[in-house]
Amino acid sequence: MDSNEFRRRRQELMNLMGPGSIAVLPAAPERPRNRDTLYPYRQDSDFYYLTGFPEPEAVLVLIPGRDQGQYILFCRERDPACEIWDGPRAGQEGAVRVYGADDAFPISDIDDILPGLIEGREKVYYTMGVDRDFDQRVIGWVNHVRQNARSGARAPGEFVALQHLLHEMRLIKSKAEIAAMRKAAQVSAEAHRRAMQVCRPGMLEYELEAEFQAIFRRYNGWPAYTPIVGGGANACILHYIANDQPLKDGDLVLIDAGAEIDMYAADITRTFPVNGRFNPEQRTIYELVLEAQKAAIAAIAPGRHWNEFHDAATRVLTAGLVELGLLEGPVERALEQETYRRFYMHRTGHWLGMDVHDVGDYKVDGQWRLLEPGMVLTVEPGLYIAPGSEGVDPRWWGIGVRIEDNVLVTRGGCEVLTDDVPKEVEAIEALMAEGRDGG
Ligand code: GLY
Ligand code: MN
Ligand code: MN
Repeated sequence: MDSNEFRRRRQELMNLMGPGSIAVLPAAPERPRNRDTLYPYRQDSDFYYLTGFPEPEAVLVLIPGRDQGQYILFCRERDPACEIWDGPRAGQEGAVRVYGADDAFPISDIDDILPGLIEGREKVYYTMGVDRDFDQRVIGWVNHVRQNARSGARAPGEFVALQHLLHEMRLIKSKAEIAAMRKAAQVSAEAHRRAMQVCRPGMLEYELEAEFQAIFRRYNGWPAYTPIVGGGANACILHYIANDQPLKDGDLVLIDAGAEIDMYAADITRTFPVNGRFNPEQRTIYELVLEAQKAAIAAIAPGRHWNEFHDAATRVLTAGLVELGLLEGPVERALEQETYRRFYMHRTGHWLGMDVHDVGDYKVDGQWRLLEPGMVLTVEPGLYIAPGSEGVDPRWWGIGVRIEDNVLVTRGGCEVLTDDVPKEVEAIEALMAEGRDGG
């Protein structure tokens, strides 16, 4: 993403903040995994959205209208000894030259410098409650200004939640963001196709996981969230991540996996037969979920509200379940009583962007939000019939199906970003048959 994109975002945020304000936003901390080993570093999405700056131990400060510079970065100093171990740092010179900061200071000087920048501003835009230690430091800086009131310093009167403005901005994706999400979607789709092609009875769930992870890495991607590979009844465990069981002939396998590429996520689920052919019960449930998913996608367009596509999915699922005798009718009463929740216990989608469950409100003034061009969401109905489900014919037991695509709201309706991976029964079976012995 080029530096103009980040500049445009900062400018837009500063326009919304208005004069007399200051925003303070820390980079994500490094997080220990065990003993002296760290998790791979992932920058905070809000921080990255405004800076493109990839290092920890940094703080962004925005001061709209400040003559001596509106965009200030505190960051680590260059340190040749550390850089031998951990790689290059931008330093203050790089923060200005590469990342476009108007001014940059060593992070170790922040206590001395930031109170002076806060002084005289009315409002501090800051997101409280995410990082307690940093909250205390922000309060400390503001108190420092208050303590100097007798010498004429003016302390801010107001703390404002930064995320309200910022997350509204992140909810509507720019052209550059849509291009990034398209890339993440395409790579993830390729990975799902690969999984379908190589799946064989007797493989371990993690062996299948290794196949799609290899594709993510081939494009410099990482999993955007912990992947789910659930064979058979494991698909009925919504957050199954052990991925360590054998894939059995005659079972389905559910894969929920998406790549994060250049900080943007995809989130795809496909469910397919381990041996390449759906049996009649699996096919029946699968086609019902597919019909629900298509009905949901058809309900996505500008001006439609957030809950309409969920309603469309639950209506199709409920009608189907009543017809199969899995729910008691009539359909209207079943819908009213939400009896489908026994087999469909999650919602039909969420916003998608830099975070897999991306930011943005779902309701505005107590009403479901209306969809607008540039929003990206998932559409992911499912049915999960746990083994031993009481009152359910055992032929349905252990069938878990979810189908999840990523959908961009466009001016004319919507566009499915993840349609490079098949979801029709015939298309899945045809892809799985490719390259198998006997064709
Ligand atoms: N993979 C997480 C979700 O589908 O919401
Ligand atoms: Mn998912
Ligand atoms: Mn999802």
